[in-house]
Amino acid sequence: MGRVEGKVALITGAASGIGKGCAHKLAAEGARVVIADRNAEAGRAVAAALGAPHLFELLDVTDEDGWARVIATTLGAFGRLDILVNSAGIAVWGDIERLTLAEWRLQHAVNSDGTFLGCRAAVGAMKTTGGGSIINLSSVAGLIGVGDAAAYSASKGAVRLLSKSVALHAARCGYNIRCNSVHPSFIDTPMVDAVCVAAPDQRKMRTAVERAAPLGRIGQVEDVANLILYLASDESRFVTGAELVVDGGLTAM
Ligand SMILES: NC(=O)c1ccc[n+]([C@@H]2O[C@H](COP(=O)([O-])OP(=O)(O)OC[C@H]3O[C@@H](n4cnc5c(N)ncnc54)[C@H](O)[C@@H]3O)[C@@H](O)[C@H]2O)c1
Repeated sequence: MGRVEGKVALITGAASGIGKGCAHKLAAEGARVVIADRNAEAGRAVAAALGAPHLFELLDVTDEDGWARVIATTLGAFGRLDILVNSAGIAVWGDIERLTLAEWRLQHAVNSDGTFLGCRAAVGAMKTTGGGSIINLSSVAGLIGVGDAAAYSASKGAVRLLSKSVALHAARCGYNIRCNSVHPSFIDTPMVDAVCVAAPDQRKMRTAVERAAPLGRIGQVEDVANLILYLASDESRFVTGAELVVDGGLTAM
């Protein structure tokens, strides 16, 4: 038996990076996975690699109607939703003096609004089928400020406290829905590649990223996917409203 055998998981941002790693991990542990992303080509490739019964659904997480459609498709195909991983995200870099209002709004539209819409849609579905686990990707930047990323830090702080609010509401209502936030440090994904490429000195930035954690290396997708598997499974049945770091010791300093 897999650790999430028979469960149905919806994963946003599953065309790349951490979301893609979670799709592979949860499918390998027995879940049926809906791969949701705005990148159709890469999302379809993940679904094709996993094979049936896993599905790809086109979703821009900022689109309220899109969420209704994806939830309806998931319930239509599998009859339930047990796990939502809100991994879709973007990183808009910039300190408080450089950020434009448009950049601030774009950052919050995806990371904050997208996670809010996902939590709301998932609670509506999960409460009708016996409960579930919602896992929101925040960041160490949602626990400690990052001077070069004012909007990103603020959006991840929002995800952190939204997760606790969802957890408390669901517990009070007796829905058997848990909600937790995950806080990685730098993980080796296309998002971090893009941050390095955009830096004035790419090599210096890459070295800084690789040495940031006390454990002396950059995190791997599997490091985060392993934690998300735990939160998705019933092994974490008494864990809700928690903020779990997976950061090689970065926030212990
Ligand atoms: N990589 C890191 O170092 C790191 C660290 C801490 C937190 N995180 C968080 O983890 C999550 C995943 O990051 P990643 O490194 O895998 O990034 P990634 O860029 O590799 O993947 C992000 C995915 O989200 C999708 N996406 C972006 N905007 C979307 C939208 N509006 N609707 C639907 N899909 C959308 C992209 O198409 C992509 O497939 C993000 O929320 C990120 O902020 C990443």
